[in-house]
Amino acid sequence: MSRILVTGGAGFIGSNFVRFILDRYPDYRIVNLDKLTYAGNLENLSGLEKNPHHSFIQGDICDADLVGRILEKGADVIVNFAAETHVDRSILQSADFVRTNVLGTLNLLEQARKYKVARLLQVSTDEVYGSLGPSGAFTELSPIAPNSPYAASKASADLLVRSYCKTHGFPGIITRCSNNYGPYQFPEKLIPLLISNAMAGLPLPIYGDGLNVRDWIYVRDHCAALDAVLHRGRDGEVYNVGAKQEIPNIQVARRILESLGKDENLITYVEDRPGHDRRYAIDSTKMESQLGWHAEILFEAGLRATVEWYRSNSSWMEHVRNGEYLTYYDRMYGQRQRTLAER
Ligand SMILES: NC(=O)c1ccc[n+]([C@@H]2O[C@H](COP(=O)([O-])OP(=O)(O)OC[C@H]3O[C@@H](n4cnc5c(N)ncnc54)[C@H](O)[C@@H]3O)[C@@H](O)[C@H]2O)c1
Repeated sequence: MSRILVTGGAGFIGSNFVRFILDRYPDYRIVNLDKLTYAGNLENLSGLEKNPHHSFIQGDICDADLVGRILEKGADVIVNFAAETHVDRSILQSADFVRTNVLGTLNLLEQARKYKVARLLQVSTDEVYGSLGPSGAFTELSPIAPNSPYAASKASADLLVRSYCKTHGFPGIITRCSNNYGPYQFPEKLIPLLISNAMAGLPLPIYGDGLNVRDWIYVRDHCAALDAVLHRGRDGEVYNVGAKQEIPNIQVARRILESLGKDENLITYVEDRPGHDRRYAIDSTKMESQLGWHAEILFEAGLRATVEWYRSNSSWMEHVRNGEYLTYYDRMYGQRQRTLAER
């Protein structure tokens, strides 16, 4: 398990995971394959440029030849974060989501089988289960009922992983996590968007009546869950990951404004997203009882840490907002690690 191919490791959760693993297992080696779409940001990996245990390759998980060459050089496991992830974009550009999230995962499965990878961990989402009423929580046995093209593409990928496990005895595992927040999250997503707007004194847009409920988990808790599944999970299984921190969106906005000392009149209600899921809640009993994992960070503390991170890393936010993050690659890496052949 000590040589990991992380895909999508320049994104929000992937980059947090890379840091988490290198910190916890200093002798592991990570190859980080990321296409660097608008959501990929090498500034998320700053400080790792000279780490001999981490190498970055710009490339597409749909590229069979490239993925094959990486696996041929040696990787025990794949952790697949690479995806198009923004629900709003999936409503406008569904084909991009099918290409990366479905066909990209299929390519990883094929190559992993060919090169006999010991495990593929598919990082999925609770959104594959659809929406909940006012009570109850999703278990691993809840029906798959995605409502957005994003969720449908992730559900399709999950079903492909499942089918490879059943048909080929493939060593795949799926995790389904609730909404993450924390450092390095692209500010199109709710929490960093609200923090960044509040810091700039701009309106905080809230969909519909603001009462949509999400089950928030601090990204580090998610990384610890993935670590547990990677090392102790059972092939062919699905594991739900959540922190039992259900908060309506409007409360999230109010707490952010309060922690930044800003006025509530910045909150601006906007027309609801089509097909907007009302409520998610996740039951992680299986993770807790079988793998001994549980979330450690309560929303209050996690949000405080997150606001503080964005406040003290204002240049990160500024580079994302003004597009400078797109040139960070050439400034820090040059052409050095752009392809496998050049490594
Ligand atoms: N953010 C959440 O709350 C959440 C919750 C549960 C599950 N997930 C899942 O976790 C994973 C990571 O989510 P995130 O929020 O970090 O996303 P993100 O959008 O921040 O990052 C996605 C990364 O994937 C890369 N990428 C996109 N297409 C690619 C391709 N074809 N080949 C290689 N790389 C590609 C992007 O450049 C980016 O770096 C996703 O699979 C997502 O479905 C996210």
